[in-house]
Amino acid sequence: MAVQINPSILSADFARLAEEAEAVKGADWLHVDVMDNHFVPNLTLGVPVVESLRRATDTPLDLHLMIEDPDRWAPQYVEAGAGSVTFHAEAAAAPVRLAREIRAKGARASMALRPATPIEAYEDLLPELDMVLIMTVEPGFGGQAFLDVMLPKIRRTRELISRHGLQMWLQVDGGVSASTIERCAEAGADVFVAGSAVYGADDPAEAVRGLREQATA
Ligand code: DX5
Ligand code: ZN
Repeated sequence: MAVQINPSILSADFARLAEEAEAVKGADWLHVDVMDNHFVPNLTLGVPVVESLRRATDTPLDLHLMIEDPDRWAPQYVEAGAGSVTFHAEAAAAPVRLAREIRAKGARASMALRPATPIEAYEDLLPELDMVLIMTVEPGFGGQAFLDVMLPKIRRTRELISRHGLQMWLQVDGGVSASTIERCAEAGADVFVAGSAVYGADDPAEAVRGLREQATA
């Protein structure tokens, strides 16, 4: 199982996004957190910033939409240049239709679950998705403590993916660091988002390499 490390630019300097993207060269994807002040109590960036970021880096963009009404907005993020678009299960009105639309427009389709949302409710949707994101903090802010009570859910999700014979990825996001990534990998995650653990480090590229080594060990 190939491991992927996706630095979250939420912990980067928003006034220097092009340089901050460059600072994590070697990362698999750049994780871009879109927040709307409604689905979560925080506001970040929208389509114009994603369009500019697309031009500023060769690293593919992994969009995490923490917004209401993703059915309406997600397709615009594909058009803006996202290679992967994650919407929240709790916010999507028609997740199958939305996943199909994202794929039809040429991006990978992914669905995120807040900590209290059970994966079992979405088992039948998994074949429609390229990735599932298990949140390991309440979405909204970087730098929160990893919720280790989510480890059994990561494990159950990996079992469901295997049972259905699917090739999809399993992403974890929130509190992923040198001290938590091994447990996530052991539970079955293969795509790791890290914000403060990467951009809070003196050398962000070195932090990416270190996380990759730990997740692979
Ligand atoms: C939180 C965001 C995360 C955040 C992670 O709602 O979805 O992507 O940037 O930050 P850390 O890694 O610091 O927990
Ligand atoms: Zn995120």
